[in-house]
Amino acid sequence: MTSDELRSLFIDYFTGLGHARIQGASLFPENDSTVLFTTAGMHPLVPYLLGGRHPAGRRLVDFQKCIRTGDIDCVGDPTHLTFFEMLGNWSLGDYFKREAITWSYEFLTGRSWLGFDPDKLSVTVFAGDDLVPPDEEAAAIWMELGIPSERVHFLGRADNWWGPAGQTGPCGPDTEMFIDTGRPACGPECRPGCGCGKYFEIWNDVFMQYNRTREGAYEPLAQRNVDTGMGVERTVAMMNGAESVYDIPLFRPLFDFLGKASGQGSGVDGTELRSMRVIADHIRTSTHILGDDMGVPPSNLDQGYVLRRLLRLSVRHARKLGIEGSVLPDLARIVIDGESHVYPELARNRAFILTEIEKEESQFEKTLQSGMKEFEKLLPNLLRNPSGIIPGRVAFRLYDTYGFPVEFTTELAREHGLDVDIEGYGQALEKHRELSRAGLDRKFGGGLADHSDMVTKLHTATHLLHKALREVLGDHVEQRGSNITHERLRFDFSHPAPMTADEIEEVTRRVNAAIEADLAVTFIEKTVEEAEEMGAIGLFKARYGEVVKVYRIGDYSMEICGGPHVERTGGMGRFVIQSEKSSSQGVRRIRAVLE
Ligand code: ALA
Repeated sequence: MTSDELRSLFIDYFTGLGHARIQGASLFPENDSTVLFTTAGMHPLVPYLLGGRHPAGRRLVDFQKCIRTGDIDCVGDPTHLTFFEMLGNWSLGDYFKREAITWSYEFLTGRSWLGFDPDKLSVTVFAGDDLVPPDEEAAAIWMELGIPSERVHFLGRADNWWGPAGQTGPCGPDTEMFIDTGRPACGPECRPGCGCGKYFEIWNDVFMQYNRTREGAYEPLAQRNVDTGMGVERTVAMMNGAESVYDIPLFRPLFDFLGKASGQGSGVDGTELRSMRVIADHIRTSTHILGDDMGVPPSNLDQGYVLRRLLRLSVRHARKLGIEGSVLPDLARIVIDGESHVYPELARNRAFILTEIEKEESQFEKTLQSGMKEFEKLLPNLLRNPSGIIPGRVAFRLYDTYGFPVEFTTELAREHGLDVDIEGYGQALEKHRELSRAGLDRKFGGGLADHSDMVTKLHTATHLLHKALREVLGDHVEQRGSNITHERLRFDFSHPAPMTADEIEEVTRRVNAAIEADLAVTFIEKTVEEAEEMGAIGLFKARYGEVVKVYRIGDYSMEICGGPHVERTGGMGRFVIQSEKSSSQGVRRIRAVLE
């Protein structure tokens, strides 16, 4: 089976059931500044899931190009891709669980459709918790259809809950469908969702039947929706009995090319195979980022930054495979030629895609050259070090300043009988990542000029200020904007009236008390829902189960934020509010400094 065949079958099946075919959306979310890319088919449909009227009706079907970079480190394993296609059928307040599950079953197992052996099908349903009961209804429908109870697994919120698409709003349990690959179980606990590769998740039906209230309760929703997502690459792989999502017809020409260019042929495995898969995935994602009608060139910001990273990683893996010289434009041409009939924007934007990839590749080539030069300059000193080990911070500086990847440093080191302290490099990198994580999948914290000491201190001060304002003025205070430079912080927040001199003094006092108390600043990673549950404040918007950082300052403040922050508040300086004035209707603006 090819991806084309699967797409047509799915669309045919659901249009036959009265679904209107709609066009997929751009990879660049239109009305949502909190995620960089469209991550699921439901993403562009949020306004309609919330109750807005869709012009095409209440039953919809489509396929949607998606990018998820959260698991980029898993790319190359049998299931993970950064770019993938998702098939979806939707009910906007129309049918619900019985129809959705029955149709999923029929499409998966029906002879005229996918025809999977029903014995290979396992499903998971929501096990319930103290807020929401178990989804017995979904389980019962599966069993009526013939799935035996030992293949209907009840799992918790982490596996079988979707949403809410905001602090409040529609959300609900889901049921996921898995194909048993026939590989041996990894242990007695092995079950769908375990990740060992035995069970391949291919489809998810979400039942949006609750509304999450401000108080964190779940009440039945007036408009009950169905949102489903079937992974094209995964399903095609399972239809073909393939080992991985990379072993599908769509990727074949890329692997053929890489096999020839590297002289390794098609029988590679181990790290070589992984490198080929990473390149195939990353070049496909890059081509689609550039080829979208809203596409952006490589840069150091947001989507452009993700793109730059993907392209540079591709070059790196190409070198690992022993491929020298330019290779990315040829690979991008293969993607364009192979997918333009489905995504005509790729053909429309062909020149842009190829020019930008060529530019980035040659610029990175120069980076590698200058990193090499810098390494040679350092070499006499490094050779004098009796341990024969290049300190991690030196390797990190080569990476951070010259963009010179540590694998290249290690290789050069080996040529001179040296080693790199990889652990020390890892520590330096991790520290840096914590500082810059905000720039990747997430966009929090407003405008930070950079990650210098002063900006970091002012950023922590902003959290203290936010909390103090809520204590002094009330819980209606919400962040409306934040901008920090080396000199000052600027904080916009909702409040109907000018602050009095007493209020300003009290807020200042509280911030300074928190600084003097030398509070520890720590963070934990939580899903948006868990963070809300804990009472964290911050910018909650549609981020669909994404993991976010929750920063705590002692017991004083708890806020969703990408960082960076100081480690302790002591030594930040004395907090002074310089001005408080109107910014727009109902919004006040404070300018403050640390002396
Ligand atoms: N929105 C659901 C998912 O992406 C269907 O899994």
